[in-house]
Amino acid sequence: MKKDFLNLGKQPIANSFLSSISKKSLKSEYFYNLIISFNTKNFLVSVKKPVNPKIQYTNKYAHRASESQTMRKAFRSAAIKLYKRFKPKNIMEIGSNDGVFLKNFARQKVIGVEPCRNLAEITKKKFTTYPNFWNKVLSKKILKKHSEVDLIFSANTISHIPNLKETFEAIFNVMSDKGVLVIEDPSLSSVIKINSYDQFYDEHVYVFSTLAVENIVKKYKLRLFDVQKINTHGGSLRYYICKNNSKYKKTKRLVSILNEEKKTGLDNFNTFKKFAGRVKNSKKKLVSLLKKIKKNNNKIISYGATYKSTTVFNYCKIDTRYFHYVTDTTYNKQGKFTPGTHIPIISPEIGFNDSVDYAFLGAWNFKREILNKEKKFIKRGGKFITHVPEVKILSK
Ligand code: TYD
Repeated sequence: MKKDFLNLGKQPIANSFLSSISKKSLKSEYFYNLIISFNTKNFLVSVKKPVNPKIQYTNKYAHRASESQTMRKAFRSAAIKLYKRFKPKNIMEIGSNDGVFLKNFARQKVIGVEPCRNLAEITKKKFTTYPNFWNKVLSKKILKKHSEVDLIFSANTISHIPNLKETFEAIFNVMSDKGVLVIEDPSLSSVIKINSYDQFYDEHVYVFSTLAVENIVKKYKLRLFDVQKINTHGGSLRYYICKNNSKYKKTKRLVSILNEEKKTGLDNFNTFKKFAGRVKNSKKKLVSLLKKIKKNNNKIISYGATYKSTTVFNYCKIDTRYFHYVTDTTYNKQGKFTPGTHIPIISPEIGFNDSVDYAFLGAWNFKREILNKEKKFIKRGGKFITHVPEVKILSK
């Protein structure tokens, strides 16, 4: 049974940065109700009514994984480790984005699947890329053209696909008998622990726990045999899944993480009700802090036009009354406006200057990278604000 625990209100599509805020474009801005539910049977946490993927993953999709040094390093290290451990003869990635993971392998060994055509166009020049949504039709097409796949990788993608049945059945189709599916997604346990409610937005149809993934894959003749904690996106998990009769044994760290999750209460609705209370509190605190700063005539901006910020801004109703603008290094976000709250986005070269007193860490998942980069700002008295794990002004 699905039970709702969190209502984040009316939200726009997190990646729908607006090119103009003319009356006409504001009129056509799409909103939906972001309500989060818990399935008491399989412990899966999901968006109650997912948005149609065709509205989300278009040829204007903004996120480019390669733009972050942290992500480039993380994917390179993952590629090396996975290759060493499983020695796959071929590799397929579902949601290959701009090729940040696949480019670490010999090009004849890899297949990319990426429905956002602007991204598929980038990788098509280097390796075979299918510009399609992942489903059974595509899995059959791939099987006809290539051999079965030994290593299927998918980072921050499976949690975006509403139809898990179709997804896992299609994976089963193309996976070799000794093959391994490796999935990375933000961890529910981290979300609960650091109160990062902004991991909930339209694209994150699911925020997985190990408990839920183990229950789900079972239904599709697959088996979770290992899991690993990784640092990306504020705390993620890398799941290792094989076919039912494959040789892989359940690892000790899987047993230990399953136990940890039970201790955290990820199999218990009450945990989520309490979390929802903390989220409401976080909103109150953030708005009151911003009000206080504004009252003292300080200039506040937001650092990183993240999808996560879309949730925070729209839930807390933060707009240009508080933030002058948002800075972001991504070229195709610059000159646009934040979804729903219509704050201008500009380049840090222009916007992150001496006039800024406070910067809200929209990209809090890159806190270390950003604090390292912005030592000058901090030295001259500039301050970062964060809302995870709690609302505060960072002292260092
Ligand atoms: P991302 O981590 O993909 O978060 P989400 O999935 O919530 O969108 O986005 C990080 C954004 O922050 C991306 O648009 C690039 C931007 N960014 C900066 O502007 N400066 C930086 O120093 C870093 C690390 C990121």
